[in-house]
Amino acid sequence: MITTESISAIRKQVLAWRLKGETVAFVPTMGNLHLGHLTLVREAKSRADHVVASIFVNPMQFGQNEDLDAYPRTLSDDQSALVEAGAELLFTPTPSIIYPKGMEAQTFVEVPLISDQLCGESRPGHFRGVATIVCKLFNIVQPDIAVFGQKDFQQLLVIKTMVEDLSMPIEIIGVETIREDSGLAMSSRNGYLTAAQKQQAAVLKQTLDKMAIELRAGIQTDEVISTAKQAISAAGFDNDYLDIRNAKTFSKPSSSDAELVILVAAYMGATRLIDNLVVKLK
Ligand code: PAF
Repeated sequence: MITTESISAIRKQVLAWRLKGETVAFVPTMGNLHLGHLTLVREAKSRADHVVASIFVNPMQFGQNEDLDAYPRTLSDDQSALVEAGAELLFTPTPSIIYPKGMEAQTFVEVPLISDQLCGESRPGHFRGVATIVCKLFNIVQPDIAVFGQKDFQQLLVIKTMVEDLSMPIEIIGVETIREDSGLAMSSRNGYLTAAQKQQAAVLKQTLDKMAIELRAGIQTDEVISTAKQAISAAGFDNDYLDIRNAKTFSKPSSSDAELVILVAAYMGATRLIDNLVVKLK
């Protein structure tokens, strides 16, 4: 696998593949890779001739009081894992390569409406940072396909909306969340949890499963949410949000919905965890 921080080196390699009529799938990451990321790379490999990955801890998507500096950086382990999973090219730019004029002077991409809700409300500017970096990375790599985890459900919707609204010729693939045996969704932030907190955190998925059963049984969404909030608090979480939306439009649920998504963000100690579950009703 070639690792480079050079935009022109990425473009040169991707162009060489394209001239041979070969396809390219892209997996953007912030590194500290776990099985969830590697599943994305394997999915990418099954869909295209070549896989490009990127590792960039994007400062634009972190708020002032968030864990940018503490975010785990494990390049050497990540490189070995990416080779194993089938990536051939790894882009590892520095912030000054991505934002040469600084972030304040940087043109940005803002996906309206969806970016201001739930995670967007708790983390103002987060989805602007995500949309901007993903747009830049797409312009650098110019893939046919890009693969993202469904664990970041709202992020996936933001990216799909951006691609559609800006007519980007890229197919976006969402891959199901990979979980620990306990049900806890895999995340780089799980590394911040103690063993005891990890056990407690399994309650998030248990709660989502119970909510799905209640929704299918026709219990009103407000009641389902209120019971679930109590269960999450009782497990030691500090709730950020717990909500239910239409899985396609992200609008508030209505009686005609065929597919809902339950979304949760909650703090276990100082660690903010997110999870979601899609519930088919019809
Ligand atoms: O999901 C992530 O790891 C990041 O938000 C992404 C998509 C790589 C953009 O920085």
